[in-house]
Amino acid sequence: MTKKTKTSQAACADRHSLYQNSVQDTEAELDFVADIFKQLNGRQLRLLREDFCGTANTACDWVKRNKQNLAIGIDLDEEVLEWGRQHNHAQLKPEQQQRVQMIHGDVMQPPATQVDAVLAMNFSYYLFLERATLRQYFRRVCQSLQADGVMFMDAYGGYEAHQEMEEERDCEDDDIGEFVYIWDQHRFNPINHHMNCQIHFKFPDGSRINKAFNYNWRLWSLPELQEILAEAGFSRVHVYWEGTDEATNEGNGIYAVETEGEADAGWICYLVAQK
Ligand SMILES: C[S@@+](CC[C@H](N)C(=O)[O-])C[C@H]1O[C@@H](n2cnc3c(N)ncnc32)[C@H](O)[C@@H]1O
Repeated sequence: MTKKTKTSQAACADRHSLYQNSVQDTEAELDFVADIFKQLNGRQLRLLREDFCGTANTACDWVKRNKQNLAIGIDLDEEVLEWGRQHNHAQLKPEQQQRVQMIHGDVMQPPATQVDAVLAMNFSYYLFLERATLRQYFRRVCQSLQADGVMFMDAYGGYEAHQEMEEERDCEDDDIGEFVYIWDQHRFNPINHHMNCQIHFKFPDGSRINKAFNYNWRLWSLPELQEILAEAGFSRVHVYWEGTDEATNEGNGIYAVETEGEADAGWICYLVAQK
């Protein structure tokens, strides 16, 4: 008699699907981007470029919102782009598919098309470790924007960002069901702010995917980022800071321009840079 071996949940899970379901909230992000663009320019955002797009989840969701919306996604990794083509792009209607372009390339050599907005989300630009390289990237973005174009990016910090620690969150995936997302700030070097961060996933059956994603980043500070954006040619840079829910004392998901923030243990904010 052959012994039955049960396949673990980790072996059945798809790391890109888990990432989309634990890290990304494209609806909230696109609401923010569209609202702020309209407030700043008095017109609708139409052509959006998603840098470091990975599976192009955001780009694909953008074209679903309006028949006039167009998106370009750029990523260096063909494997993740191919996953996005099969799982996100293929789910769109044919007419929507035509409004998304997914480019296998380097954000340092972007396409010539001038866009309304460039998004660099989930701290992707932290992979630029040198000030000169980050400034060069921001300069290229600025050159890619229309006259009233806007760059949107997120940033994180607070004293917990300097700690080597793990944080867990319960999440849900359509195929696999419940799983736990683990954010692992594995190594932080206070001398140059270089850090190694990893994402692991664990499942109710006890199985795990260790190091599903691995990032070698520099933890940039908000003053550095604001200065570098100005040096790269942006005329105005705003920090959108999250408001506080009075009842829970937690973030309320509403971001507004601020010049003074609370010294929270861990915060996430948006930087909005106008050409
Ligand atoms: C942290 S993931 C970001 C995923 C997505 N932007 C999000 O919001 O969740 C970083 C992505 O950047 C891509 N990447 C790294 N260097 C790049 C470069 N120079 N040009 C384009 N993509 C790059 C990687 O392949 C990876 O898919």
